[in-house]
Amino acid sequence: ATMSSEAELIHMFKGIPFTTRSSPELLKSLDTFDAREDDVLLVSYPKSGTHWLAGVITKLYNTQVTLTSPIEFGDISKLEELNKLSSKRIIPTHLDYNMLPPNFKNKKCKMIYISRNPKDTAVSMYHYYRENPNLPTVDTWTAFFDLFLKGDVVCGSWFDHFLSWEEHENDKNILFLFYEDMKKDLPKIVNEISLFLGLNVSDNDIQDICKKSSFSEMKSDTEKENSDPSHTVCALTSNRKLIFRKGTVGDWKNHFTPKQNRKFEEIFNEKMKLSKM
Ligand code: A3P
Repeated sequence: ATMSSEAELIHMFKGIPFTTRSSPELLKSLDTFDAREDDVLLVSYPKSGTHWLAGVITKLYNTQVTLTSPIEFGDISKLEELNKLSSKRIIPTHLDYNMLPPNFKNKKCKMIYISRNPKDTAVSMYHYYRENPNLPTVDTWTAFFDLFLKGDVVCGSWFDHFLSWEEHENDKNILFLFYEDMKKDLPKIVNEISLFLGLNVSDNDIQDICKKSSFSEMKSDTEKENSDPSHTVCALTSNRKLIFRKGTVGDWKNHFTPKQNRKFEEIFNEKMKLSKM
């Protein structure tokens, strides 16, 4: 990220930093959003594996589905654009639970929440801030580390986001997934997703979907495609090619100093006191 000042790129809405690519008018109007019973929401804090999960989910359907851009991304015309879609909608979002349009909750739409070790999420987000012209400039990992812990980054605090959703972990319409579990045993998780969505997918198809959803396959698919920058499942993305960086578990160990690790653990333990994590 270079040149533009923070003020041009970020604005606050209900205490949470959003990029200016989410217009205040759109954010204000989300409360009246018309959800459909068969909408599927794909929920995440940024850099948790959103694109990976979106790739898996769209491959699971053999009927017509549309993976939309995030509900909070764009201007006021967004609601109409989503209204016009005639096919089933898979809708990504980085909103925390409290900000989610109430209609999705009332209609008990299926929601899949993907989460990732916040240390790896922080590292992934740091690199993303560095590469992405739509995000403010950060000079060093040290500086970003502090911003992340303070929640002074797009989409706000990882802890608040996670906790707002974890409170609903027993809701029948919400499936909780972890990036690390997908790395460990993707077929198992894909099977879980398929059961949750009520789809009938053969073991063979599951194997095939997993192969096509590997980091290297997805990365090379994206490099081949004539990328349309407006097609994104993450409200921060300007260029899909920036998404596929490393795709590993534990890259935080290459970034955190022992002192940063202690500080992170201390804040994690404090914030997550009431969490089952
Ligand atoms: P890294 O920056 O650690 O590599 P999101 O899609 O929510 O923006 O998350 C992006 C992160 O998911 C990046 O992490 C990216 O490399 C990783 N990722 C994307 N596709 C993946 C895949 N098929 N397998 C494993 N990790 C993947």
